[in-house]
Amino acid sequence: MTTDNRHEPAAEYETHLVDVLVIGAGGAGLRAAIEAKERGLRTAVVCKSLFGKAHTVMAEGGIAAAMGNVYPEDNWQVHFRDTMRGGKMLNNWRMAQLHAQEAPDRIMELERWGALFDRTPEGKITQRDFGGHRYARLAHVGDRTGLELIRTLQYRAVDLGIDVFMEVKILRLISDSEGRISGAVGYYRATGEMVLFKAKATVIATGSIGKAWKFTSNSWESTGDGHAMAFWAGADMIDMEFVQFHPTGMVWPLSVRGLLVTEAVRGDGGALRNSEGTRFMFNYVPEMFRAETAETEEEADAWYEDHANNRRTPDLLPRDEVARAINSEVKAGRGSPHGGVFLDIASRRSPEFIKRRLPSMYTQFMELAGVDITKEPMEIGPTCHYVMGGIRVDAETAATTVPGLFAAGEAAAGLHGANRLGGNSLSDLVVFGRRAGIGASDFAEGRSGEPEPDKGQAAEAVGAALAPLDGKPGEDPYALHAELQNSMHDLAGIIRTGSELEQALERLDEFDERLERIAADGGRQYNPAWNLATDLPSMVTVARLTASGGLERKESRGGHTRDDFPTADPEFGKVNVAQRRRNGRHEVVQEPLPQMPKELQALFEEDKH
Ligand code: FUM
Repeated sequence: MTTDNRHEPAAEYETHLVDVLVIGAGGAGLRAAIEAKERGLRTAVVCKSLFGKAHTVMAEGGIAAAMGNVYPEDNWQVHFRDTMRGGKMLNNWRMAQLHAQEAPDRIMELERWGALFDRTPEGKITQRDFGGHRYARLAHVGDRTGLELIRTLQYRAVDLGIDVFMEVKILRLISDSEGRISGAVGYYRATGEMVLFKAKATVIATGSIGKAWKFTSNSWESTGDGHAMAFWAGADMIDMEFVQFHPTGMVWPLSVRGLLVTEAVRGDGGALRNSEGTRFMFNYVPEMFRAETAETEEEADAWYEDHANNRRTPDLLPRDEVARAINSEVKAGRGSPHGGVFLDIASRRSPEFIKRRLPSMYTQFMELAGVDITKEPMEIGPTCHYVMGGIRVDAETAATTVPGLFAAGEAAAGLHGANRLGGNSLSDLVVFGRRAGIGASDFAEGRSGEPEPDKGQAAEAVGAALAPLDGKPGEDPYALHAELQNSMHDLAGIIRTGSELEQALERLDEFDERLERIAADGGRQYNPAWNLATDLPSMVTVARLTASGGLERKESRGGHTRDDFPTADPEFGKVNVAQRRRNGRHEVVQEPLPQMPKELQALFEEDKH
């Protein structure tokens, strides 16, 4: 392999032929790859960062599954109902059903593969509380659950001998002459050398889009590459307006603003307070959750001991409700010194309990902020954490609307509706990662001959990626990125209006023009400015999908709040906002939700009694 600084595309690239190509090595990607490899298929995983460094590790507090280990009353029907209600009933019902039914098996599978979950006194996998879940339902490993999940799946993948291409940035999906996705082209970040994968089936498992926003819990890889590539390839996207702001990110020091403070702090007893010391969440309980939410601090605190006879603490309402409440407190002048509110576990649990259950939070605050959380409250505020919208997939197979392309995890949409419950992300990864692996393997096995990705498409993608290195002066990638993040923060953040979203779209059109002139000094090797220049087209694309979806959805629901349409509109409760590229045009349309069968609808009726 050559490692010089030539900028012109090579006529031929390093090429790998596989049956199943998985883009992304987080929980969903690894689980999909394991399935394909176990079927005996030639399987490759490609990831942008080092293997094992996936953003999945940032899902700290636990993995949700109705195992009934702590509350035997729990079952898949209750988990299904919680997920649908948390998603404001916009979820794909079949995905929510499969997820609730299959999550316990996936956890037992992780345990068989070596995951070391925390235990109940009698030795079962223990489960903790999280927002919107009726029962303590999150299997966990302290506050490092995502890390354990990645560690376990990684060992399994290595054990099976799956080929891993790390520090490879995929630029574009490539189709064949029949329109089937037949591979992808990208480059090694270290050398800048191009690489082409020929694949019979491709799974997108690239995670989030949060790096398009200013304050985010997401790590540097979360630039929406998979979402954007699927859209460019003609796939249907749905509900991209629903962006989750996790209520608790660090607000101070500024250098780590947005870093996640796990919901497990509240799950384990932490309480939110404003600058007056008031537990303000009692003032923000929506009608939908009133019957099951405590009205007094005593009742809320007793709930931690006895879920059967008490109503839940409002600190653990679904994330959209809590994030909006914090936003309102800060706006009303009752915030903390650095623009958040206080999260107090010090006065509520012993130092020993805090250090044992929340060791990462203890270290994170001590080392980054000089705050001892066993003695002082934390300052926290909402941070861009997750996108509920994404690539439309078939619930059973994870197939997208483009032949040969599958998607799972955060890149796929449907399971979480308008708002995701904490802990449902890790279970989503393993439930639908497995299903995507099966779907992609079936597709690959049904396809004869060698896949033939179109050479022209690959050359075009490579040419565009190398253009910033042509030596001409132009737009600075870092400045453009910062402007994009500020625009999304100001105009498509936690609260939006129609005119702000229109402004966002105008700016995004300008960013598109400026991307044509983007320039990076130096060559292809170890060049972060060039790497960022190749990430920016994805970020601008996902930002446009969010703003366009937000403009179309003239209501407030879950992770989409419009100041000019402040309530939920029942008509919008019946539709997905779908977006796609057709004949070079960007279509934004409302499409009916799949109809839930009567026996599942009945679960919501029973719940009223
Ligand atoms: O708060 C957390 O630990 C995050 C978990 C999640 O997003 O599922």
